[in-house]
Amino acid sequence: MTAEPAEPLRWFGRRHGRPLRPGRARLIEAVLPALTLDLLAAGRLDPASLFAGRDVWLEIGFGAGEHLAAQAKANPDIGFIGCEPFVNGVASLLAAVERDGLANLRLFTDDARLLLPLLPEASIARVFVLFSDPWPKARHWKRRFIQIPVLDELARVMRDGAEFRFASDHKGYVNWTLEHALGHPAFSWMAEGPKDWRERPADAIATRYETKALRQAVSCVYLRFTRQARPGPSRSP
Ligand SMILES: C[S@@+](CC[C@H](N)C(=O)[O-])C[C@H]1O[C@@H](n2cnc3c(N)ncnc32)[C@H](O)[C@@H]1O
Repeated sequence: MTAEPAEPLRWFGRRHGRPLRPGRARLIEAVLPALTLDLLAAGRLDPASLFAGRDVWLEIGFGAGEHLAAQAKANPDIGFIGCEPFVNGVASLLAAVERDGLANLRLFTDDARLLLPLLPEASIARVFVLFSDPWPKARHWKRRFIQIPVLDELARVMRDGAEFRFASDHKGYVNWTLEHALGHPAFSWMAEGPKDWRERPADAIATRYETKALRQAVSCVYLRFTRQARPGPSRSP
């Protein structure tokens, strides 16, 4: 396997928004360095060693980080990796880290597609992709985060029985994700009835984009998949 992706990855999102207020700029300068995973220099990462063998959950595209911070606070025995290239969002999360004294969290401030190949097989116990950019126009669908190669990478890094949560207020992206994940041999949909995709999981809080959608009376869909058990070693007769 080559470490180089076949094509250079293109990033279509924003990395910067409005200039940071001095308090937020200070967080980026003073708090972020100790939390940053400099994977591109290390070339590989063992998440379990970062968190003394605890389970590790990964949130991709955490935005302003409300959900990530709430999960990290509610689950001090879990190690969290948050991935978000938008610096203003990272600064918001850092404010929560400082306010709540969160010590079980590390950040990768770049494209998650660069992070995934550096994680070992079966090293992640839960993945969140919440209100990922839907790229509604057909000519932009290839920009959607959920793609077969990304699901392949998620399947590789997730351990057997790990959960993958995806939520969106965009019906087209929900159907796209369902179609791709159901067509993937590693994932099975956990839903048993409509409640399971119409209601946010009880242990989660609303994200900023979710709150915005709900305020506009746009309904949201919550998909939960499990990573199927890997086939066992073949036994000789
Ligand atoms: C629509 S926002 C949603 C933010 C947040 N999850 C929420 O629900 O409020 C999508 C976020 O995903 C981030 N994002 C998009 N592609 C990404 C990628 N490949 N790796 C990491 N983050 C990504 C964007 O920077 C953006 O902040």
